[in-house]
Amino acid sequence: MFISEKARNISPSPTLAVDAKAKRMKKEGHNIIGFGAGEPDFDTPEYIKLAAISAINQGFTKYTPVGGIEELKIAISNYFEEEIGIKYTSNQIMVSNGAKQCIYNALYCLIDQGDKVLIPSPYWVSYPEMVKLCGGISIFVPTTENNSFMLKAETLEKYIDEKTKVLIINSPNNPCGSVYSKQDLEQIAELAVKNNLFVISDEIYDKLIYDGLKHASIATYENMLERTLLINGVSKSFAMTGWRIGFAAGPKQLIEAMENFQSHSTSNPNSIAQKASIEALTNLAKKDETISKMVDEFSERRTYMVKRINKMKNLSCNLPKGAFYVFMNISGTFNKQYDGRIINNSTDFAEILLEKYNVAVVPGIAFGADDYIRLSYATSMENIEKGLNQIEEFVEALK
Ligand SMILES: Cc1ncc(COP(=O)(O)O)c(C=O)c1O
Repeated sequence: MFISEKARNISPSPTLAVDAKAKRMKKEGHNIIGFGAGEPDFDTPEYIKLAAISAINQGFTKYTPVGGIEELKIAISNYFEEEIGIKYTSNQIMVSNGAKQCIYNALYCLIDQGDKVLIPSPYWVSYPEMVKLCGGISIFVPTTENNSFMLKAETLEKYIDEKTKVLIINSPNNPCGSVYSKQDLEQIAELAVKNNLFVISDEIYDKLIYDGLKHASIATYENMLERTLLINGVSKSFAMTGWRIGFAAGPKQLIEAMENFQSHSTSNPNSIAQKASIEALTNLAKKDETISKMVDEFSERRTYMVKRINKMKNLSCNLPKGAFYVFMNISGTFNKQYDGRIINNSTDFAEILLEKYNVAVVPGIAFGADDYIRLSYATSMENIEKGLNQIEEFVEALK
């Protein structure tokens, strides 16, 4: 075999099997309702597209500096200053092909073989695989539904030892929709300082927050600036997932190392998408309007879904405070059967739901939580209604 051991160790996405099946069924003519989307169902706003078209017409189609053009870095700096009150300089900021690449760059530059990385669980699917690729060891720190899946400092403390180097936090959170409180963040920050941990704070959903809550960043707490890397981007807030622009802000030396690494892997992120991102971040009047329209729509769908789910037999969920996912507890359906097939875990639930009721969902095992299913509400209200009707019929039919 030519394939390296490293590559062989990468787990195929556990979401892939259900996803592939959903696609196959769609091709065969089934009317599948999908709750799997990890991206807004809204189109990228017209004014942002126009900025990209103008960049093409002006011939802005060549290599740029590896970590992004200065104008974009300034726009990002202003964005962070406005959002969380930290003024980063250009050499503390870099731009990559999506937030995902920022996180990978960072882990590569932070972790030596055998270093431990703390990851609150349930977690975003890519964190543990990236840690593995970088030679690190993921240590999962449990969070509980009762506590809105929020990481508690007293739990975290139990998982720290002398090999622990990095903590990844993600608020607002995928898949749980939790938004960390200032108090929680402050306690986690204290622990990070006390134990000399570096924190990667994935804040990609920072603008998708509901009920008037305000996003807080761990970077703002005492002595955290020099040990925190902020991760953000335009993918979710501006419905720009396909443009592949993410950014990171943190200590100068780390940013420099990440830029060196990126210079030998992918070079600069797409020049045209960089120009579009400047427009997204700097057109302030349109920015607020774009985001608030999306937030209002998401919030309405979220409330509807949560109400309906909590009325269904053997299902329940918390009201998510951010992002666009509902994390539904399905453990009440375990050991029940459908047509002789027993539901033992989230994959069984997802498979039968897809095969018999044409509804595609992501099994919680993908996020390290087999008692749950993730439902994205980045789909139309009509789909949500139909899909929930199907789910209701399914759980009613279980014996
Ligand atoms: C928690 C989290 N972080 C990072 C990303 C990646 O964002 P991007 O598309 O900008 O790479 C996602 C995308 O789903 C995500 O859910």
